[in-house]
Amino acid sequence: MAPAGDSPASPRDAADQNFDYMFKLLLIGNSSVGKTSFLFRYADDSFTPAFVSTVGIDFKVKTVYRHDKRIKLQIWDTAGQERYRTITTAYYRGAMGFLLMYDIANQESFCAVQDWATQIKTYSWDNAQVILVGNKCDLEDERVVSAEDGQRLASDLGFEFFEASAKDNINVKQVFERLVDIICEKMNESLEPSPSPSSNGKSPALGDTPLPQSSSCSC
Ligand code: GTP
Ligand code: MG
Repeated sequence: MAPAGDSPASPRDAADQNFDYMFKLLLIGNSSVGKTSFLFRYADDSFTPAFVSTVGIDFKVKTVYRHDKRIKLQIWDTAGQERYRTITTAYYRGAMGFLLMYDIANQESFCAVQDWATQIKTYSWDNAQVILVGNKCDLEDERVVSAEDGQRLASDLGFEFFEASAKDNINVKQVFERLVDIICEKMNESLEPSPSPSSNGKSPALGDTPLPQSSSCSC
């Protein structure tokens, strides 16, 4: 596999047409699990302890280099609050990847994962790739969801799993890179020899890494 690199997001990114692929990604999960913080950490390398709940939906663009390809990521940050659900689910269509997030210090957010997975199944493409993220792993003293339970649920749902911290910058970049990689793997599997509808007409020639796993919420 070619070495990976990336560049900080800049205002030019949004208008930049010079890319090999564009991937639409969505961040979903209960309110306050840290979706916006996770995106800000990834795109701007910033974090704020203040909680400003997202209204509706927002997005950021970031261009990364993976497997010698320039990939433009359009990352949509959805509001977790129930009242915005009609708006946010309208954006699921066409998403190639999801980060389904819960807070390891919040049992309710973990119990809601199954419902979020059902939303993905209902509103997105069949082959959308999903990573389950247990955020706020810096809060070890307040942990109520074990890493084992997170992994088991991810396995049951057929998702990959990471614990992460937007605050301490743990596994943030790794999660996005893995999501990009599994989307690339899926493209290689399903699109050869025809190009991806979201590519610039170039054939995919990307890496091959095994897809994992599969388990259950005790709620
Ligand atoms: P909605 O927009 O309402 O859906 O919430 P959200 O999921 O976007 O949550 P947000 O990113 O706004 O974070 C909620 C609160 O959790 C904020 O006070 C953040 O500072 C805090 N937070 C986010 N990530 C972390 C983390 O990794 N560790 C800790 N300790 N706090 C975090
Ligand atoms: Mg938010």
